[in-house]
Amino acid sequence: MANIIVPPGWRLPESLATPESVYWNRRRFIKGIGLGVAAVGLGACSQSSEGASSEGEEGVAVERPDHPLATIPDTPTRDLYPADASDRFTLDRPLTDRIVAATHNNFYEFTTDKDAVWEHTGPFQARPWTVEITGEVDRGGVFDVADLERQIGLEERLYRFRCVEAWAMAVPWTGFAFHELVRRVEPRSTARYVRFITFDRPDEAVGQREQDWYEWPYYEGLRMDEAMNELAFVATGIYGEPLPKQHGAPIRLVLPWKYGFKSPKSVVRIEFLQERPRTFWSDLRPDEYGFYSNVNPDVPHPRWSQSTEEMIGEDLERETLVHNGYGEWVADLYDAEVMRGIT
Ligand code: MTE
Repeated sequence: MANIIVPPGWRLPESLATPESVYWNRRRFIKGIGLGVAAVGLGACSQSSEGASSEGEEGVAVERPDHPLATIPDTPTRDLYPADASDRFTLDRPLTDRIVAATHNNFYEFTTDKDAVWEHTGPFQARPWTVEITGEVDRGGVFDVADLERQIGLEERLYRFRCVEAWAMAVPWTGFAFHELVRRVEPRSTARYVRFITFDRPDEAVGQREQDWYEWPYYEGLRMDEAMNELAFVATGIYGEPLPKQHGAPIRLVLPWKYGFKSPKSVVRIEFLQERPRTFWSDLRPDEYGFYSNVNPDVPHPRWSQSTEEMIGEDLERETLVHNGYGEWVADLYDAEVMRGIT
């Protein structure tokens, strides 16, 4: 299967292309018939979400959350939320509605159907959680996320967030600057890049189990100076509470000057490297997704314009801002070649 299917790209506006969710639902449907039971994902789309569990593949009971925020895992650091808000990051637009943000997600490990990601996260065990830090560092190791939250301390930041698909949101993230974590592991002078790797748990994530044309786990990367930039944020919460699973619980990156796919969710490993790492979407579609992928209205995606963006939950188009409006922090990191295109 994997070698005859061209991996789908990001979904286009419905008016421009057949959404891949149609294809994906069809595949699940066929699979469901083959098994003689409703496939997990098909059930989510066609049944009421009221029930606490339903019959999934091969008769195994699957916990199904009954509300988009019932997906916040039990969190031993709950007392740290809400954190104090930083006054350094202000917004030029209203905050996105919390439920809208929690029901419009890209997290292909579960499904490509944005509205339904939260419904599929039931089996996913997001706490307790550790992150392994390896490579060109003197003090790497395995770090418990709850310990990091307590030791580093949390703050809230209001950021714009821009997906490459031309939708955007403005949300309050809770977490800490990535450089705080980097400092603790003491990178060597040979560390020039950072690689992030997401979990690989097909038993808990139906999209990993069934979409075998993707090269799981999800992997992303940054240049060291990008990683050390003040804006690069490790989010453990959103809207004053720990992250719901669909937003990448319990720990994800947020890089607000880059397209959203550069911000990996539910990270399990961070590697400090000498060489530039490969990245998930660049490997799948090198002609469409580059390593840097900074938000830029002047460089269209090969299949759609990036000049405007739609704020989710609002019937409102806005002009896309260069670096998503964060040039003051990051513009001097890049030369013209990086900003011109897919590199
Ligand atoms: N991280 C993982 N592990 N898997 C994904 O599919 N999607 C990316 C990014 N991080 C993705 C991911 C994309 S394309 C976007 S736009 C954002 O997550 C969406 O974040 P949100 O759902 O919290 O809004």
